Amino acid sequence: MIIEKEKIKEKIGRYAAINFIEDDMIVGVGSGTTVRYFIEALANRIKEGLKITCVATSLDTSLRLKQRRIPVIPLNYVDEIDIAIDGADSVLTQTRVLIKGGGGAHFLEKIVDYAAKRLIIIVDETKLNKTFPVPADVYPPALNIVMRKIKEIGGTPKLREVKGKLPPCISDTGNIVIDIDFPMEMITEKLEKELNAIPGIIENGIFSRSCRIIVGKLTGEIEEINL
Ligand code: A5P
Repeated sequence: MIIEKEKIKEKIGRYAAINFIEDDMIVGVGSGTTVRYFIEALANRIKEGLKITCVATSLDTSLRLKQRRIPVIPLNYVDEIDIAIDGADSVLTQTRVLIKGGGGAHFLEKIVDYAAKRLIIIVDETKLNKTFPVPADVYPPALNIVMRKIKEIGGTPKLREVKGKLPPCISDTGNIVIDIDFPMEMITEKLEKELNAIPGIIENGIFSRSCRIIVGKLTGEIEEINL
């Protein structure tokens, strides 16, 4: 039997909230439609007595946490994060990296996800080895210089298009979001570093840190893999 994608997202969101979150943790909360289900499940656990503090990776996430009365503190209040739960746009199992930033939140997500003692990624199985461009946040005045430098290293950059709004797409942190096409085999930890070495790129959406991936299968099963 094939299960509807939203049901899978709900299942893995709940799974993460039940299996990985414990009392007194500082929890980094990622962004995106899968994480929204995690937030719902977390709210239920808090109603049952769970005591945690969250730090958000986007305005969207922080508003949702507040709406559900989940304790959330600003990023600059924390120096340690016990665990981060986040989604991903693609999990590249060959080059062992994630691509994130489909929602433009990759800069804050990288700060929180890399600071966490443990990173848990929740994805449905369609995200495994999915072709996806690499997002990057660019300091606005440096846009043209950055675009040229990206072409020199083999990427094809374009401005992020947002339905109903003229480009550019501005991230929560005030930078221009671009999407860069690269052949899948080039998307590695090395490329993550190469992109960030271009002055003007604030952060890119290649995530190379180790993590546990919770994969929701279309059959309804859940598989855990390490990356
Ligand atoms: C936000 O910028 C992204 O990094 C998200 O984590 C990613 O896009 C996953 O989102 P969905 O769960 O909505 O696919």
